[in-house]
Amino acid sequence: MRSILFGGLAGLGALAVACAPDMMPTPSEGEAVFLENCAACHGCRAEGAEELVGGETAPDLTQIAARNGGVFPRAQMLSTIDGYGRVEHPGVMPEFGAVLEGELVPVEIDGTMTPTPRPLAALLAYLESIQAE
Ligand code: HEC
Repeated sequence: MRSILFGGLAGLGALAVACAPDMMPTPSEGEAVFLENCAACHGCRAEGAEELVGGETAPDLTQIAARNGGVFPRAQMLSTIDGYGRVEHPGVMPEFGAVLEGELVPVEIDGTMTPTPRPLAALLAYLESIQAE
C-alpha cells in the first residue's frame, strides 16, 4: 500500500497534499459516468449525436476548447452539467446536479480549489482529456 501511494504521488510534486481518495478523479472514471448518463444524447465518443426530440442536436463535446479559443472553460462546463448555469436558458440538456452527487473532491476552478462532487469532477477530467487539439 505504502509503495503504491508513494508511486502515485511522486509525479505530482508540490501538489501532493491530499490523500489518494480525495484527489481529482481520472478521465476513465469520468468516462464511465459519461457512458451511463450522457452518451445517449452526446454519443459514445462525445462527438455529438443525431437529432434529439425537439430537433435539437447535442453538441460535439470534443470541440469545447476549440470553440472557446483553445481554453477548456471549467467553471462554465461544471455549471452547464450541474444545471446551475442554465436557469435562464432551459434547453433539452437535463440538469444533472441531483444525479451526480457524491463525496466532495477539490477541483481547481479559475485558480481556486473548489469542493466538487466526485462524479462531476470525474466528468470534467474526462471531457478535458478528450478535447481535440
Ligand atoms: C437528453 C439529451 C442529453 C443528455 C442526456 C445530456 N446532454 Fe449535454 N447537451 C444536450 C444538448 C441538446 C445540449 C445543447 C443545448 C443545451 O444546453 O440544452 C447539451 C449541451 C452540453 C454541454 C455544453 C457544450 C458547449 O459547448 O457549451 C455540455 C458540456 C454537456 N452537454 C455535457 C453533458 C454531460 C457531461 C452529460 C451527462 C452528465 C450530458 N451532457 C447529458 C443534450 C443532452
